[in-house]
Amino acid sequence: MNPLHTTVPCSPAQLLAPGAPAAYTPAGLVGDTPMPWVGEPFTAAGRGFWAKLEGHNPGGIKDRTALYMVARARERGDLLPGAPIVESTSGTLGLGLALAGVTFGHPVVVVTDPGMEPLMRGLLTAYGAELHLVSEPHPIGGWQQARRDRVDQLLIDRPDAWCPDQYRNPDNVAAYAPLAHELVAQLGRIDILVVSMGTGGHSAGIGRVLRSFFPAVRIVGVDTCGSTIFGQPAAPRLMRGLGSSIYPHNVDYALFDEVHWVAAGEAVWAARALAKSRYATGGWSVGAVALVARHLAATSPAETKIAAVFPDGPQRYVGTVFDDDWCRTHQLLGQKPADAPDELAHPGEQAVAHWSRCTTVLDPLAGADRETTGERGLMGVAR
Ligand SMILES: Cc1ncc(COP(=O)(O)O)c(C=O)c1O
Repeated sequence: MNPLHTTVPCSPAQLLAPGAPAAYTPAGLVGDTPMPWVGEPFTAAGRGFWAKLEGHNPGGIKDRTALYMVARARERGDLLPGAPIVESTSGTLGLGLALAGVTFGHPVVVVTDPGMEPLMRGLLTAYGAELHLVSEPHPIGGWQQARRDRVDQLLIDRPDAWCPDQYRNPDNVAAYAPLAHELVAQLGRIDILVVSMGTGGHSAGIGRVLRSFFPAVRIVGVDTCGSTIFGQPAAPRLMRGLGSSIYPHNVDYALFDEVHWVAAGEAVWAARALAKSRYATGGWSVGAVALVARHLAATSPAETKIAAVFPDGPQRYVGTVFDDDWCRTHQLLGQKPADAPDELAHPGEQAVAHWSRCTTVLDPLAGADRETTGERGLMGVAR
């Protein structure tokens, strides 16, 4: 007999209904992700770090924030029962919103650009999301701004629609408190946290809680070359998920002890090396975070406890990061990173094109009016 029949306190047909027991719903699969040790041969002998595998959520790390933002918006009455959810995303949040849409009964409209992987488009459609593809980048704010402009238009066309606005919604930060508590429960003490940056949501959400437990924890942000978040000029970017061509409100600059910028070829090298040697891997952000965590492990005392957040798994990247032809076309193969990053004294010192690090972390818009400049990006065309 199927054990579910004896243990589930409602019929399968009721499992998607509001009030169904969380443990038996799709949303109940989110959280409590595993945290394996990443050691040699990926790292130096006797050194390593712990990888929080957020790819074990049904869609990835953004399942947490999608469910949380939608639940809070419903509570506040910003999102009415059955009203559409409209958001711009390069992918992971789209999967989370599709899950939230199924869970709470909302149609989901996702605005994306031609860089979204076919697998991701297929999955979002399969999960019932309506996809809108922008065809041209915004002349200043790149694809990201073009997507946001389309969202604005959709919100005018559908006045009952609600947009989570992950770049400035504080719930996108608060959603990650449970993840921080999981890390503490799994590791006990944490000396270094390594996190990638896109909207700034998970770094701020996890970082603030960890600081309250461990005031001396070192928080290391990982961005891509060509991203504006930490004060570099915008440049075209291949890496998706992490990086930005605008200045997201949710980045908590005061939290960071240092920032690293990683180039696409270096992230490819790390993601592939991880896959071959440790099995647990992912795409752009995982490769970049792992490269930095590997370096921190090599240069810290052996007893240092390093937690690295891997936002998703590898499947989405089979046609890019793990595809030889695609990588060859973009000249990303054979770029084994240097043993250590280049050092910058100031984030604006020079535009970086390969792995670099800076311990001076500044808000590039400090003193400027974030409301008028912060969301539009200042320079260059980028994704
Ligand atoms: C794969 C991946 N990695 C990293 C990030 C960055 O996370 P955050 O937006 O919380 O800064 C994202 C965000 O979409 C992502 O999809």
